[in-house]
Amino acid sequence: MFTDNSKIPAIPEEPVYENLLTDVNSLLEEDAPALSNLSNFISLINHAFPKISWIGYYFAKDGFLYLGPFQGKVACTKIKIGNGVCGTSAQQRKTVVVEDVHKFPGHIACDSGSNSEIVLPIVQNSELIGVLDLDSYQYSAFNETDKKYLEKLIKLLVDKVDFKNFIV
Ligand code: SME
Repeated sequence: MFTDNSKIPAIPEEPVYENLLTDVNSLLEEDAPALSNLSNFISLINHAFPKISWIGYYFAKDGFLYLGPFQGKVACTKIKIGNGVCGTSAQQRKTVVVEDVHKFPGHIACDSGSNSEIVLPIVQNSELIGVLDLDSYQYSAFNETDKKYLEKLIKLLVDKVDFKNFIV
């Protein structure tokens, strides 16, 4: 259908996010490993929004972020905390919304087609677990609505999934 997602018409996103909140709640399984839950969490969000060109999870370990479950093209495997959009979000433990990645100092270009990005920290029991990164080929694809709802979705995730049980 669309080969260039900059041409995708805008759709009202709040109702989509409201449905996602319900869906995520029933999709997550408290007794399943975090890896399994994260994989489905990422797929669910990816398929809800055509504007997403890449979505994935980076987990924090020894001062670096390492690639976890994702959907999209091959991406950077390792990012130093403090570097790029992901590393900045991890370091500040804050959501970072970037309207134009080409203007973000130190942006790490995994896909040269990416033009905007949002990165959200994932914190559980006061510990930085990792970040959720979403990219788009559109400029200014992500805004306060995305921030608000993605933060709510992550809250559901950390309330229900124990990241200590990443694979077992
Ligand atoms: N652009 C990110 C790197 C990760 S990729 O977009 C998947 C950054 O600047 O941290």
